[in-house]
Amino acid sequence: MKTILITGANRGIGLGFVKEYAKAGWRVLAACRHPKQAEELNVLATMRPYQTITVFELDIGDEASIKKLAQELAQETIDVLLNNAGVLVGVNNDKFGKQLGRLQQADLIESFKINSIGPLLLTQALVEPLARASNSKVININSGLGSIADNVEGGMYGYRASKSALNAFTKNLALELREKNIIVISLAPGWVKTDMGGQNAELTVEESVSKMQALISELGMVDTGKFFDYTGDEREW
Ligand SMILES: NC(=O)c1ccc[n+]([C@@H]2O[C@H](COP(=O)([O-])OP(=O)(O)OC[C@H]3O[C@@H](n4cnc5c(N)ncnc54)[C@H](OP(=O)(O)O)[C@@H]3O)[C@@H](O)[C@H]2O)c1
Repeated sequence: MKTILITGANRGIGLGFVKEYAKAGWRVLAACRHPKQAEELNVLATMRPYQTITVFELDIGDEASIKKLAQELAQETIDVLLNNAGVLVGVNNDKFGKQLGRLQQADLIESFKINSIGPLLLTQALVEPLARASNSKVININSGLGSIADNVEGGMYGYRASKSALNAFTKNLALELREKNIIVISLAPGWVKTDMGGQNAELTVEESVSKMQALISELGMVDTGKFFDYTGDEREW
């Protein structure tokens, strides 16, 4: 049975991945900030065919929490690490996320802590469990907004830049982990109906997740270090 670790597993795209991988017969290590409050996830884990789900605590913005989870999983073999947890802070429902004049250090730091540094530190902490699987995969959930090449309207400073930094980490990790046969990519889920994406988004969680799941299953070492869209197309950095 293959094993996947999913961060931000309690709602949105993360919860969608939990459901699909459990249905597909995978063992799902579902990490979230507040396991006791993760009602839907906890109920799901007691139901068929979702009983392969185990819930773990992880605050991706807290280095001690990352180390604690890595200790708990030290003897595991992890086939896929899905760095999904993310935040969009400081935008305050401003339609276009134009923030110049209102930018604050704390918001910018929070964006980088959660969206870029957390996934990097978690990957670092789990290299051994990943290396035990053959052709394991690290999937950094990114965003079209993380592409510098595709930025035509500005705004969303912290979110865009933290996802661009995550892209830089994807490339670096891919180069360093190639010798251990670990594939590392960035993956944009499209605009998805979640708390973050809002209800006007183009895709349901199920539509986005099923396409990403198909793409993830087909990845080979030839793909490492690339930035993909949920459609399977390669994106510009
Ligand atoms: N929805 C979209 O249209 C869209 C588009 C492009 C990219 N994305 C990316 O897709 C990923 C999932 O987004 P979503 O739409 O599902 O967002 P969401 O519904 O807002 O869910 C965000 C998830 O991240 C978790 N999270 C936030 N801070 C955390 C922390 N410090 N430690 C652990 N978990 C934390 C949240 O947990 P709590 O419940 O504890 O807050 C929640 O599970 C993100 O990386 C996002 O940037 C989404």
